Amino acid sequence: MFKIIGKENLASNIRLLKIYAPQIAKKAKPGQFVVLMPDENSERIPLTLADWDREESTITLIFQEVGFTTKKLAKLSIGDCISHILGPLGKPTEIKFFGRIILIGGGVGIAEILPLIKAFKEKNNYILTILGARTKELLILEEKIRKFSDEFYITTDDGSYGRKGFVTDILKEKLYQDKDFQLVYAIGPVLMMKEISKITNPFGIKTLVSLNPIMVDATGMCGSCRIKVRERTLFACVDGPEFDADEVDFDELQKRLSLFKDEEKLINSYGA
Ligand code: NAD
Ligand code: FES
Repeated sequence: MFKIIGKENLASNIRLLKIYAPQIAKKAKPGQFVVLMPDENSERIPLTLADWDREESTITLIFQEVGFTTKKLAKLSIGDCISHILGPLGKPTEIKFFGRIILIGGGVGIAEILPLIKAFKEKNNYILTILGARTKELLILEEKIRKFSDEFYITTDDGSYGRKGFVTDILKEKLYQDKDFQLVYAIGPVLMMKEISKITNPFGIKTLVSLNPIMVDATGMCGSCRIKVRERTLFACVDGPEFDADEVDFDELQKRLSLFKDEEKLINSYGA
């Protein structure tokens, strides 16, 4: 059992849980995720590690209340226990000196930028960060991420904070001004990652994305997380979750993510 020792509401539907998990905290690396079951009867959901503290033996998970299981997880309080957490899973991100990096986080995907920015900064990279949210109230972790950034930009779709528009507006502008970037790393909605890939491709800049398809076993056996990468079928849980954006079939990923929308709506209508 994994005890919850901290809980915060970061936005109206985005929650942070700090959990006592010594074995996972000891081995966690940027880019990795866990699969958890809030209780014995829950489905398994994958969540990327937003942070960890080896001394405190804790991990931090940030998630959006979108479906039955995330709603169930959000109902847990400090002192409650999560039944199962499996991890760390997935291939860690290669952390090294690239030179100049653009990190882009969209919506709840911003949570996964935090371990990356800390690790890339430790390797002395120059980091330009772009965070985007639909509206000011949904923007998370601004100060925590800003302090590791050499340049920092915010967009909101409705213009309530930062620049009005999408993260891609700033990306385009920056790349046309200065092409000297060695890596773009993006995490967020599939459409955002797809658009980013289209923008960076003509510049020939290495672009990585972290994908979150539906997962069940997270061991490469069930096939539910399959994605098409350069016409090959790969499994995000064991071959990813990070992939080269130029090689990912984002349209297929989007289709697979919508597969169970109707069932999810039906389950949600019964309440968590
Ligand atoms: P959202 O729909 O509010 O979008 C966040 C930001 O992404 C927007 O403000 C905008 O700047 C950008 N964006 C969205 N659509 C775009 C487009 N068509 N072109 C350019 N930019 C665009 O995001 P949300 O509701 O917080 O959803 C986050 C999504 O991220 C979910 O779909 C979730 O599944 C996904 N996610 C992915 C990961 C991952 O590992 N890849 C992790 C967590 C969440
Ligand atoms: Fe089953 Fe990846 S979740 S193969």
